[in-house]
Amino acid sequence: MSDSSKSAPPSFSGQLEQYEAIRGEIQAALDRVLRSGWYILGREVEAFEREFAGYCGVKHAVGCASGTEAIALSLMALGVGPGDEVVTVANTAVPTASAISMAGATPVFVDIDDYFLMDVQRLESAVTGRTKVIMPVHLYGQMALMDAITEFARKRDLLVIEDAAQAHGAEFKGRRAGSWGTLGCFSFYPTKNLGCYGDGGAVTTDDERLYERLLMLRNYGQEKRYYHTIKGINSRLDEMQAAVLRVKLAHLDEWNEKRRQVASWYEEFLGEACARPRERSGARHVYHLYVIRAADRDGLRAHLEKQGVTTLMHYPVPVHLQKAYEDLGYGRGDLPVTEEAAAEILSLPMHPGVTRGGVQRVGEELQDYYAKRGGMR
Ligand SMILES: Cc1ncc(COP(=O)(O)O)c(C=O)c1O
Repeated sequence: MSDSSKSAPPSFSGQLEQYEAIRGEIQAALDRVLRSGWYILGREVEAFEREFAGYCGVKHAVGCASGTEAIALSLMALGVGPGDEVVTVANTAVPTASAISMAGATPVFVDIDDYFLMDVQRLESAVTGRTKVIMPVHLYGQMALMDAITEFARKRDLLVIEDAAQAHGAEFKGRRAGSWGTLGCFSFYPTKNLGCYGDGGAVTTDDERLYERLLMLRNYGQEKRYYHTIKGINSRLDEMQAAVLRVKLAHLDEWNEKRRQVASWYEEFLGEACARPRERSGARHVYHLYVIRAADRDGLRAHLEKQGVTTLMHYPVPVHLQKAYEDLGYGRGDLPVTEEAAAEILSLPMHPGVTRGGVQRVGEELQDYYAKRGGMR
């Protein structure tokens, strides 16, 4: 279609647009680090940890090398390992499960609710004598039902670790992601709502003892230089990434607000053609991803691609059906809500730089597809 009156389709995640908007600030921050002569665990990491903890509403944050390792370090800090089970969901990025495996524990999956999030009603049947942790995933930028999940865990003496890798700044009942569980895990992968220019992650907590353990675990188990109290790993956030994150953290609320605006434009322009994401009462969704459910998803995806609209699927194969997790013994039909969603989900372009015209263009192309197919969903 070469109708010149149409807006250009938006980019999928807006990385370059974002860099151009903050280039001066980023370059000043990187120069500050480069000229300090100190590149690992220094002033920038300490300052970012303080600022990010404050942002999340907790006492402490510990920077580490990735979101995957934030989860693995959290489990290690709690002493969760071989023989222990962690109850989580299968419609997530595989690293949720990779990190559980990395700690030596076993993931156990529960199905999801209408919001693509852990279904609290199904938790009871997933808990066994080996369960140590419940790990909800705040998928796509919306928090799981944390009041019910933390209450469920408290009554059974289980701990809660939040996988908040997609939910920087998301809220539930006025409290931010990362402040509900005993530990909260974040990824700063570049495309995240708060992302650096490489890999990075952090764990948030109010617990002093766990904080002290995490500081050691991420740094070879050192209590002070060359004195190793526990067995740790190397999983550190570096000074350059921390400096980048400090710049970006100052913009996060404004960017999340823009994502919410983009979501409201989608609401306006998608019409009745597909099922749009819903914000649960009491939740503040920060739209890391804008995920619709679409009939004939693959046909729609091919059509949009042809019209220049990039889409992705988060995620086409749930973890319990991935080859790598065959040994857990799950099969098709075990998590029906998750499996049905996986066949219909489609992520449309979403980032703070998406314009109203761009959303209108996506909406038109999408409605055009269903009209040609002889009707809407
Ligand atoms: C829900 C979820 N958990 C964990 C991770 C792992 O984060 P990272 O890629 O920083 O290791 C990601 C990132 O893709 C994620 O989306």
